Amino acid sequence: HQLFGAEVSAYRYNGHVFPGIMITSGLIKELQDFQFTPDDIIVASYPKAGTTWVQEIVYMLTHDCLPSDHTSPVLETRFPYLEYPYPGWRSLAGQEGRRWVKTHLPLHLLPHSFTQCGPKLIYISRNPRDTAVSYYYFMQLLTQCSYKGTFSQFIHMFVNDVCMYSPFFSHVLGYWNNRHQPNILFITYEQLHHNPKKVIKEIADFLEISVSPDDIESIRTCTSFTNMTHNTSVNYQHWKEWGFAHKDKGNFLRKGEVGNWKSHLNEEQVLMFEEWEQKHLKNTDLKFIYEE
Ligand code: A3P
Repeated sequence: HQLFGAEVSAYRYNGHVFPGIMITSGLIKELQDFQFTPDDIIVASYPKAGTTWVQEIVYMLTHDCLPSDHTSPVLETRFPYLEYPYPGWRSLAGQEGRRWVKTHLPLHLLPHSFTQCGPKLIYISRNPRDTAVSYYYFMQLLTQCSYKGTFSQFIHMFVNDVCMYSPFFSHVLGYWNNRHQPNILFITYEQLHHNPKKVIKEIADFLEISVSPDDIESIRTCTSFTNMTHNTSVNYQHWKEWGFAHKDKGNFLRKGEVGNWKSHLNEEQVLMFEEWEQKHLKNTDLKFIYEE
């Protein structure tokens, strides 16, 4: 469909929206046969939930808590994005041993081998209002999207479930309802923001990695918003050089706040979100955190 000025082709597969530009319609189906191994580690999310942040934490935890820097390969090479052609499933399929996999696929569209092999998966969720705001800026930043509509138009698309990987609630609830599976850890951006050390320890325990308080402190510091902003291995600044991102439309690591929606949504828009959220949350015990 048209994203108000951006020529982005998209299609629905099993109820979810996918970008036709990179993820061709046959691919999601083909990916059902992708082979995970029990040793793989997956970070899954709806876009803009804090995926990159968790990826870097997981990467450090599994690499002696050593930080990446400008000499390290960029994150998308170390931690490929499963359903993307580059460096995605193709490079993953050729890798031996443990693989670090990022995906935005909803749980029911993960490769079948996820259920068979049970690799560990960490799902990060973020309140829908901050997610929508972050998504709005991201769609302007990406050259392939170059979103030119208004903020109001964007959030209407968001709550109408036409943004890539939507429906938002079906995505989050799919993982939430399965969070007690032993190989799934469900965390939130807000918890990570509020108490990074606690969540880093939770992730370490889940991955069965023993860490000292110093290790945790080091991971917290290296993965702080400020430090990640300056780390070219994780800040996606190279996308600007490669023509994937506009040079004058902000940065991938943009604000890094909880509650940034408050300076974007007017009263009427907050009501729209509240109604939408209540409708989808009424039969669940999932609760979002909206402010610090
Ligand atoms: P904002 O646009 O609100 O700043 P994803 O990695 O899933 O695309 O999510 C990107 C969002 O996570 C962006 O949100 C980005 O700034 C934020 N983020 C990334 N690293 C972060 C960090 N270390 N601390 C806080 N927020 C971070």
